[in-house]
Amino acid sequence: MQTPRAIRRLRRRLRTTFATRKQRRHALVGPLALWRQKRDFQIAFLRGQGLQPSHTLCDLGCGTLRGGIPIIDYLEAGNYTGIDVRAEVIEEARRELAEHHLEHKRPELIAAADLADLHLDRRFDVIWAFAVLIHMSDDVLDRALAFVAGHLAPDGRFFANVNLGERPSAHWRGFPVVWRPLGFYEAAAAAAGLEVTDLGEVRNFGHVTGDERGDTKHMLLFRPADREARG
Ligand SMILES: C[S@@+](CC[C@H](N)C(=O)[O-])C[C@H]1O[C@@H](n2cnc3c(N)ncnc32)[C@H](O)[C@@H]1O
Repeated sequence: MQTPRAIRRLRRRLRTTFATRKQRRHALVGPLALWRQKRDFQIAFLRGQGLQPSHTLCDLGCGTLRGGIPIIDYLEAGNYTGIDVRAEVIEEARRELAEHHLEHKRPELIAAADLADLHLDRRFDVIWAFAVLIHMSDDVLDRALAFVAGHLAPDGRFFANVNLGERPSAHWRGFPVVWRPLGFYEAAAAAAGLEVTDLGEVRNFGHVTGDERGDTKHMLLFRPADREARG
């Protein structure tokens, strides 16, 4: 007799075996059934927050450009930078870009094994991490926030959705899936010289997929703590 978990695993394996190349690419960043909604949400959210074509944006944990393609399309050439820890995923992102004929937008796509070793010679108006901080252990999160602090413009904004609360961590494709209280993010942000505001559940911004875990994630806004003094 198969357990429900084993049945789910078998179903997943069957879906992967019979998936097209494109479906396999899309599955590298989450469930296929929600792929379109999660792509559409990202650009809609960012435009709702005032993203302009002239802004520069760093997509931290860009994956295969599920969110990145409409953002690259919207921004002026040279204004998008995507970073991911998985080199093979960045390769798929390059294929996705080519299939959408968007190379003329000259996005920079970077595979970075450790954000502590990545020093880009510029600061961004917006840094964006969709479904990424939830996959970081505490030490990786600290390095990511230090990267953000070092690459955000004085009046720049870093948006990231997270699981708020306390639950045992789970796993996804070799990454942890973590829940943390808001106070944890406040302390980690302060240590990096950032301050954080909880903007509320993403479903209030149109992320309504029917998947409770995704729709009830909170969107956090991080900004430089000393922005008034610097501005
Ligand atoms: C759920 S996927 C989301 C991808 C993309 N943001 C999107 O919405 O399609 C999470 C991504 O974060 C990336 N990631 C996890 N830890 C990372 C790290 N420390 N640095 C950069 N990318 C990371 C993973 O490789 C994965 O592609």
